[in-house]
Amino acid sequence: MYSEKVMDHFMNPRNMGELPHADGVGTVGNAKCGDIMRIYLEVDEETKVIKDCKFKTFGCGAAVATSSMATELVKGKTIYEALQVTNKAVMDALDGLPQVKVHCSLLAEEAIHAALWDYAKKHGITIEGLKEPKEDIHDREENENL
Ligand code: FES
Repeated sequence: MYSEKVMDHFMNPRNMGELPHADGVGTVGNAKCGDIMRIYLEVDEETKVIKDCKFKTFGCGAAVATSSMATELVKGKTIYEALQVTNKAVMDALDGLPQVKVHCSLLAEEAIHAALWDYAKKHGITIEGLKEPKEDIHDREENENL
C-alpha cells in the first residue's frame, strides 16, 4: 500500500526537530484527523536560499513521510522556488500515496506556505503566488471535493 520511499521517510525521517533561530515558522492542522505539522525555515538573508529546514509533526505515518520529504525538497531552494514544492511534487518524490492519504501531503504543502508567509511578513517582502495560509486545511479539501 505504501511505497518503499514512504516507508523509508516514515522509519527514518530527515530533518526532524526544531530550529530555535528560525527565520520563518508555519503551523497548520487538519481538524478532521487532528494532525498538526510545523515547519521551521532558516533563510540566507542575501541570497534568500533556504539553508536549513526542520519539521515537527504530530500525525500519521504519511504526514511524517511527507514532512520529511518536503523539508528535503525545499532545502537549497530560494524562498521563491520553494513554492514549486507542492503536495503533488512531494507525492511524486515519494512515488505516490494512497488516495485516502493525499490530504497528509496537503498538510506538508500548507505548512511550507505558512512558514514562507511568516518569513515574508517578518521581512516585509512579497513572495509572488503565495497566498495567506489557512490554519485548518479541512476547508480546502472540502472545496476541492466539490
Ligand atoms: Fe491526517 Fe495523515 S491522517 S495528516
